Amino acid sequence: MKVALGVCGGIAAYKACEIVRLLQEHGIRVQVVMTAAAQEFIRPLTFAALSGEKVIAGLWGPAGEPANLDSAIEHIAVAQSIDALLVAPCTADTLAKFAHGQADDFLSTLYLATPAPVVIAPTMNVQMWQHEATQSNLDILRKRGVQVVEPGSGYLACGMVGAGRMAEPEQIVATILAKLGIVRDLAVETVLITAGPTREPVDPVRFLGNRSSGKMGYALAEAAQRRGARVVLVSGPVALEAPAGVELVRVETAEQMRSAVVSRAAEASIIIAAAAVADFRVRKAAEQKIKRNGAISLELEPTADILQELSENRRPEQVLVGFAAETEDAVENGRAKLKRKNLDAIVINDVSRPDIGFDSDRNEVTIITADEKIEVPEDSKSKIAQRILDAALTLKTKTGRLAPAK
Ligand SMILES: Cc1cc2nc3c(=O)[nH]c(=O)nc-3n(C[C@H](O)[C@H](O)[C@H](O)COP(=O)(O)O)c2cc1C
Repeated sequence: MKVALGVCGGIAAYKACEIVRLLQEHGIRVQVVMTAAAQEFIRPLTFAALSGEKVIAGLWGPAGEPANLDSAIEHIAVAQSIDALLVAPCTADTLAKFAHGQADDFLSTLYLATPAPVVIAPTMNVQMWQHEATQSNLDILRKRGVQVVEPGSGYLACGMVGAGRMAEPEQIVATILAKLGIVRDLAVETVLITAGPTREPVDPVRFLGNRSSGKMGYALAEAAQRRGARVVLVSGPVALEAPAGVELVRVETAEQMRSAVVSRAAEASIIIAAAAVADFRVRKAAEQKIKRNGAISLELEPTADILQELSENRRPEQVLVGFAAETEDAVENGRAKLKRKNLDAIVINDVSRPDIGFDSDRNEVTIITADEKIEVPEDSKSKIAQRILDAALTLKTKTGRLAPAK
């Protein structure tokens, strides 16, 4: 998730640093956009260092070039890539530009160009705040759906006392999180998630693998992190970037995955095993590359059953969710696995369908628990991830397996 943070020219510009940090704590990428006046108060370098992203400091670069060479029409590229625009502090001047559709700098142009929701946190001198012009501009913006985080009253930087002091960063961030639909209901949980395939060596250059892309497990990790959980993601080799704020443990073989998972399991209150772990490995991998010289046979042996081991050793308050990738009789096979491995829930997906499952961004699953069968219709893997987390949380509440508050 990405938020553009517009910073305008007021004393409270320094408070935007705290806003960057708080947003990042929720796994949100922050693209800072500074007005020219804001740069009189604080340098772009500060925001670049805090956000880890290039700061947008204007529409124009050196003669005839865009400000940022990543994209020729950057205000449109940013406008389309963000999930929300937050302006904090928002000056009377920028507020007026927004209200009247003026677009003479990057921030005001971005406001016009983005379809994303907009939240503003105005701050100014009490007279400026109470002025009819400011109040009528605010009315226009409110009517247009812009959410205003009202300023508080108190001692203002200009020496006056009254309304106009920017709301606290925590309150501003809470407003934007609500706008983005981010709930923090996993804030006391530690969620251990496995993802991706494993690779079992045949010789130094070949391996037995499978078609898992890891997308489902990574979507779960991102969703759990956003809902406030501490997330440990044990991942086989995949071409995905770990979601911000998630602790990533990379493994390759089923045995490495077993050892990483078993060593971290005790910390977890929810374990979701979404990895496609190899069921078999080559009994004795060749030390040198096997030459192409007619048919060969490989002797395979079963790998350790990680889910079984987790189930046997789990703490009473832990919720354990498994996955079953099936190609036939999906629900019956999944239900049997739920019982056999004594899981709290199993997520069944039919990987024989080409439009969903492996490597797809979409999925359709059935979540089975001891007394429920939840059909989750086809949707993006991030939406499916939310439903799986909802089910895990419901199980925690129902079974009284609530984690102690951190
Ligand atoms: C020291 C100082 C503090 C200021 N604080 C504010 C403020 O809190 N709110 C505001 O609306 N304008 C404030 N201004 C005026 C703005 O900086 C000015 O209107 C500017 O044009 C805003 O540009 P911007 O909206 O593009 O950032 C301040 C100006 C100065 C010199």
